[in-house]
Amino acid sequence: AAAEKGGYDTFMEKEIHDQGQAVRDTLLGRTDADGRLTLDELKTSEESMRQINKIIIIACGTSAYAGMVAKYGIEHWARVPVEVDLAHEFRYRDPVLDPRTLVVSISQSGETMDTLMAVRHARELGANTLSICNSHGSTIPRESDAVLYTHAGPEIAVASTKAFVAQITACYVLGLYLAQLKGGTYADEAENVLADLHEIPGKIDSLLEDTARIEEIAGFMSDTRSVLFLGRNVGFPIAMEGALKLKELAYIHAEGFAAGELKHGPIALIEPGQPVFIVVPPTDAPHGLHGKVVSNIQEIRARGARTLVIAEEGDEQVVPFADEVIRVPRSTTLLQPLLAVIPLQLFALFLSTAKGLDVDQPRNLAKSVTVE
Ligand code: G6P
Repeated sequence: AAAEKGGYDTFMEKEIHDQGQAVRDTLLGRTDADGRLTLDELKTSEESMRQINKIIIIACGTSAYAGMVAKYGIEHWARVPVEVDLAHEFRYRDPVLDPRTLVVSISQSGETMDTLMAVRHARELGANTLSICNSHGSTIPRESDAVLYTHAGPEIAVASTKAFVAQITACYVLGLYLAQLKGGTYADEAENVLADLHEIPGKIDSLLEDTARIEEIAGFMSDTRSVLFLGRNVGFPIAMEGALKLKELAYIHAEGFAAGELKHGPIALIEPGQPVFIVVPPTDAPHGLHGKVVSNIQEIRARGARTLVIAEEGDEQVVPFADEVIRVPRSTTLLQPLLAVIPLQLFALFLSTAKGLDVDQPRNLAKSVTVE
């Protein structure tokens, strides 16, 4: 078993460290010599892909957060409206679908019952279905019109890590492919993004070279009872994923918020000493997002929050308001989730370990939920 864990104490730690490779392998073989995306594996005509005028992403748990990240990228590059829904909500409502709707399911296992039922529901209503899945030959891809596999390799730990970054990568590949099919300015931008995406695995590897400070922070916090997470734009689903990891692994109350919602409620939770992680967009993020998040940090710090700030290398503007700054390599805004999620995964791992809990098999949870 020690060998299977590649020298790490737990599968989860190994899988966190496999994430650069998971992104690399998910990109592999999907571009031609000219750097254009080739997704022949979809086995659908380019014409039918061009016809798509709406995408609905359905998933559960961490896979649903990957879908929420993907929405920002796919809408931006492919100019197609994207909805994201939890599979168990989607299957019991009356979604508006037609043959030009593409329903994209995301599932690591390919066996989650609610997601499978949602795919069947979509097919019955006449939509096209595409499965983004990490398990070859599993049920959901078998029952979908098309498949795009994530190549994260087997994920053993119950809490999902490397599958998540692979899912975002695959969704982005899909969005960039749709942009490429449209041609024009979208296609030009897509080409640059693809080049940036190829640099992400190296950045993940370098980020993982030194995890000692996060381990120390988690060690100090082993009796913490509540942790909040804030993010905006693609940082919002990352905040929710950070909170989910902490609930799953450390059994601590944790909640992720959209930073813009702070004054609509969550700020009432801030009291002296309340730890809050903040995912800060790159300094050159569009829409002035960086400055907005820095103001959010100021607001909560003024009320006594203990601010744990995840910011890109070289971002000095956060320093005066941060109790801790955790650095991630620079990237574009839309690609930053692939880096920013990692310190949050590590924090949950180390806190769970500090509390003496079973990291790989948290209580009450299953790797694949095959019942409703
Ligand atoms: C379970 C797992 C989660 C996972 C979710 C969806 O709850 O514990 O880690 O995100 O199922 O699983 P799927 O295999 O469909 O991605």
